[in-house]
Amino acid sequence: MSNAYGIDMGTVNLKIYNNNTDDVVSVKNTISIVEKDQMYAYGDSAYSMFEKAPESIDVSFPIVRGVIADFDNMQTMLFEVLEKEAKGRLKGSDVVIAVPTDITEVEKKAFYDMFAKSKIKTHSVCLCEKTLAVALGLGLDITEPTGIMVVDFGGDTTEISVISLGGLVLTELLPFGGNMLDDAIVTYMKRRYNLVIGRKTACQLKEKIGSALPQQTSSEESMVIVGRDVVSGLPIEMPVSATMVYEGIKDDLTNLCNSIKIILEKVPPELAKDIVHSGIYLTGGSSQIRDLNTLFTQVTNIKVNSAEYAADTSVRGLKRVLTDSKFSKFGYSMKTRIFS
Ligand SMILES: Nc1ncnc2c1ncn2[C@@H]1O[C@H](COP(=O)(O)OP(=O)(O)OP(=O)(O)O)[C@@H](O)[C@H]1O
Ligand SMILES: [Mg+2]
Repeated sequence: MSNAYGIDMGTVNLKIYNNNTDDVVSVKNTISIVEKDQMYAYGDSAYSMFEKAPESIDVSFPIVRGVIADFDNMQTMLFEVLEKEAKGRLKGSDVVIAVPTDITEVEKKAFYDMFAKSKIKTHSVCLCEKTLAVALGLGLDITEPTGIMVVDFGGDTTEISVISLGGLVLTELLPFGGNMLDDAIVTYMKRRYNLVIGRKTACQLKEKIGSALPQQTSSEESMVIVGRDVVSGLPIEMPVSATMVYEGIKDDLTNLCNSIKIILEKVPPELAKDIVHSGIYLTGGSSQIRDLNTLFTQVTNIKVNSAEYAADTSVRGLKRVLTDSKFSKFGYSMKTRIFS
């Protein structure tokens, strides 16, 4: 097989499967620009500049709510990462890109155009519905006549889908993800403790000590952070406990569970039977919040299967589309679909 790449341009992370190395690379989907259009840094190093850069450096996120918000910067960064990965073998390779289902055809075409409107000519470019890729990445056989419910809890979005016989029976892209939990922590700390903190600090709190249920243990985890005291205006150190983080995010997580419940109510009964039997599949970077699976089960009364590789399930699925002939049909060409 020629060189092949599976790509998921997420709101927070750009993930690429490379069939040469049979490995996944994941970098922050962030770019920093100087003088209007000169790339200064990308990926993790651009992210490290976020909330720290002077005015002359513009740090931005080219994907917003799952769709391309800044085509040129996304394309620049994507090809930087790909060319580094491909080591000069990008030309003539096969590419499959995961796209959310619940977006417009024009928004989907923008993903396709990343390659179609590039100087580097690949051999083929296909799109694949992201939730199908996610289900494949979980190791499921989506071609069976069995209902599968997948929840991909990402950075800016949560995509909830019901799959059967290789098709999507239901799918909804909620404009809610880990970024909104970070914002909720920032707001909570300001309102409750008069402490202004950055989004990056909030994100660290969430990832290190955040949980979806109150922690019962007496030796509660905590983290010392630095923020600005609203009253004195000065920076201060403050220990933040797991309970405080939980208080900040609990309402948003409960709302998410309720949204899933509403979607469950729309599932046809025979498929619902399958979902109850096999459980809901939960993945995406944000699904790693502690005890989230237990909260889901409490709200929906259905068991939850957590993913082993939650951060890169989608590109692991794209690997199957690229390498297993049984699933190659899930990659489709945009050209033949609407614009021929
Ligand atoms: N251990 C963790 N606990 C809680 N959240 C985490 C953890 N690790 C990563 N995350 C969160 O996962 C999110 C990124 O997940 P993911 O890579 O699936 O998003 P994405 O695919 O880039 O976004 P989207 O699918 O919305 O476009 C971030 O908000 C990050 O803070
Ligand atoms: Mg994602």
